[in-house]
Amino acid sequence: MEKYIIKGGRELSGEIKVKGAKNHALKVLAASILLKGEAEISNMPKINDIEQMQLILKDLGADIQQKQNSRLNISTDRINKIAIDKKLGSSLRASIILTGPMLARLREVILPHPGGCVIGKRPIDIFIDGFRSFGVEIKEKPNSYHFKAKKLQGCDYIFYKISVTGTETFMMAATLAKGKTVLKNAAQEPEILALANYLNNCGAKIRGAGTSTVIIEGVKELKAKNTVIIPDRIETGTFVVMGLLTNSMIKISNCNPSHLENFLLMIKRAGGKLEIGENFIKTMPNSEFTATDIITHEYPGFSTDLQAPFTLLMTQAKGASLIHEPIFEGRLFFTDKLNQMGANIIMCDPHRVIVNGPTKLFGKNVDSPDLRAGITLLLAGLIAKGKTTIGNVNHIERGYENITERLKKLGAEIYAK
Ligand code: EPZ
Repeated sequence: MEKYIIKGGRELSGEIKVKGAKNHALKVLAASILLKGEAEISNMPKINDIEQMQLILKDLGADIQQKQNSRLNISTDRINKIAIDKKLGSSLRASIILTGPMLARLREVILPHPGGCVIGKRPIDIFIDGFRSFGVEIKEKPNSYHFKAKKLQGCDYIFYKISVTGTETFMMAATLAKGKTVLKNAAQEPEILALANYLNNCGAKIRGAGTSTVIIEGVKELKAKNTVIIPDRIETGTFVVMGLLTNSMIKISNCNPSHLENFLLMIKRAGGKLEIGENFIKTMPNSEFTATDIITHEYPGFSTDLQAPFTLLMTQAKGASLIHEPIFEGRLFFTDKLNQMGANIIMCDPHRVIVNGPTKLFGKNVDSPDLRAGITLLLAGLIAKGKTTIGNVNHIERGYENITERLKKLGAEIYAK
């Protein structure tokens, strides 16, 4: 298993281009099941989760051709299987989003129990509950779920809890269902609006995506069109913290700052100095950080996927910061690894920590527990005194393309071995 070796203390400089958003690209790939004909998708990130999703689609019968410059062609006209590959499906939590398009197109799907990060138990009760409203019959087997429907029936569905992939899955299912579907208390992430715009361009009738009420009129057929994956707002925020932590002036380009306004506001309230343009963000050196409390919240609130980098930033801030993470119960355990590196973080309960700063960090051997905690430990290595070795880097490579090479270009002393 590969490790990253990092020597801390280097200032960075230069420009880093943000890649296409993992959490948009995964859904656009899944949506291809709804579409007739071939689509070209550009700005695809080259990361493990995307590779996994493509392997699952190929196994179902999709044709996918990689092209130059992060583009690919995909056609699902020859899909001929209803069972998602056990091994591939259970190793990718996001495979669950395939259920919506598969039911809409083939009226049946067998889903292995979805896997994914250890950030929480990741239940799928919302999917079971929602599909029942669409008239889907559900049988739970020891290692899989069997969903079946004569014809998906549009329905009114209220989420008892906001779910991003739940919203996306039902929105996709509803595009080819009979009649009208109204999703209430829906998630409002930018990736959802981007997905809806793409599907409408293919002939769907979706209104209200990006708000808490999404209305979908079922149609007979959707035709594949070309599309571009939007910039990854989580990668953008991660690099903002990296530039500020290393006291560097770096330019983060090909990004959309309007997709992370709350995060950028909290960074500024914490003392971070930024120059924000239309499609770039520059971090400035000599920021003085002060302790700042955050609570993660569904979009447009403070993204849970940016909580870990912000928690690390608060170890360099003067005072005590309360980090409250109500969305996932397993997303703060990485803080014990920061404490091993010299941080002073007290866990109040699985959803709350108090970060006391500023503290000097020292290089250590640590293993990445999940995707966002993993990249945060990498950032910690960039500012820690001495050498940091990070294990389980496959977690990091699920979501950050070619990360060691891209950071080396900024002057970081990092290599994979
Ligand atoms: C999406 O996960 C993202 N993944 C996550 O990003 C992100 O952290 C999360 O939304 C929240 O923003 C993708 O888009 C592929 P949820 P998702 O359903 O949809 C509970 C990353 O790092 N819940 O919005 O799986 C759930 O346990 C990943 O890129 C149920 O209780 O998250 C959580 O507490 C990590 N029952 C809350 O809802 C369900 O059936 C929100 O989860 C489903 C979810």
